[in-house]
Amino acid sequence: MITDESKDHTTQLNEFDNHLAKPLYRLKLVEYIYGGFLWDFWICEHPLYGKVISKIVDTFDHPCSIPDLDDNVACEDIIKQAIREQEFYNGPLLELQGEVVPRYFGIYTAGRKDQYLAMVLGFAGYSLETGVHEFNHELLSKICDAYKQIHLCGVSHWDIEDRHILVNDQRQIQLVGFRRSVRQDVTTVKGVLRLLQEAACVRGRFELHDTPLAVAGAEYWARLRNPAAFKANLDRREARRGFVPPIIRQLNARFGFKYTEDGREIRTRK
Ligand SMILES: Nc1ncnc2c1ncn2[C@@H]1O[C@H](COP(=O)(O)OP(=O)(O)OP(=O)(O)O)[C@@H](O)[C@H]1O
Ligand SMILES: [Mg+2]
Repeated sequence: MITDESKDHTTQLNEFDNHLAKPLYRLKLVEYIYGGFLWDFWICEHPLYGKVISKIVDTFDHPCSIPDLDDNVACEDIIKQAIREQEFYNGPLLELQGEVVPRYFGIYTAGRKDQYLAMVLGFAGYSLETGVHEFNHELLSKICDAYKQIHLCGVSHWDIEDRHILVNDQRQIQLVGFRRSVRQDVTTVKGVLRLLQEAACVRGRFELHDTPLAVAGAEYWARLRNPAAFKANLDRREARRGFVPPIIRQLNARFGFKYTEDGREIRTRK
């Protein structure tokens, strides 16, 4: 594993595919920023791409190599995981690179038998986990919009965590961490519902609970064969939202809860 001692050194990374045809660039490790589930994350300087993030793993001695661990990954599977993530960046998310997801520069190897793997991405800022507190309306709507953009490309992120939401000094939001992501078919009701549900989870994470699925926007169901029927179904679902069955109302009445005639809770602000 690349350690602090190597901080002032540079490391040579060979282009993973077609390396003979391309010039060799030196990537300068600048700052260690994060130890992920499998990879170590370094801010680096690339002679062509400028400030980048390099996710590096020593495939012979990595944190998930112990067979008894739940998240055990066999040495030979690491490259498969990396390629899986790459297929999202270079597949459905290609158009969003540099905007909603970082630019993606490829997978590189170094060392004998390709011992070290590195995935190089544009630097996208710092994650919300680093202590962003100011969740004003502008930032929240940018976060919801970032998820919407990946959803409209048919990708559900599947790992909504603050560490996967990055903000840069221009207050631009980019999403990372696509190793668990799933493709969804935006021409099927099942696919669209899954994406809408993830959009609702994102809103829930930021306590925007009171918003119906439909708030995500008509673009979600625009590619269905019958968008109007889908919307009518969503509205029917919505009409049922917040209904409390009579027996629960009775139980809650002794705690002072109040309900409208059609069985919805009357919330009183404290
Ligand atoms: N392009 C990037 N720019 C800046 N920081 C990044 C970038 N990609 C990843 N990071 C940093 O690395 C962290 C983990 O990224 P990612 O989720 O891709 O890796 P992971 O191996 O899945 O790690 P974990 O299991 O902890 O989620 C992010 O929270 C962020 O701090
Ligand atoms: Mg992750």
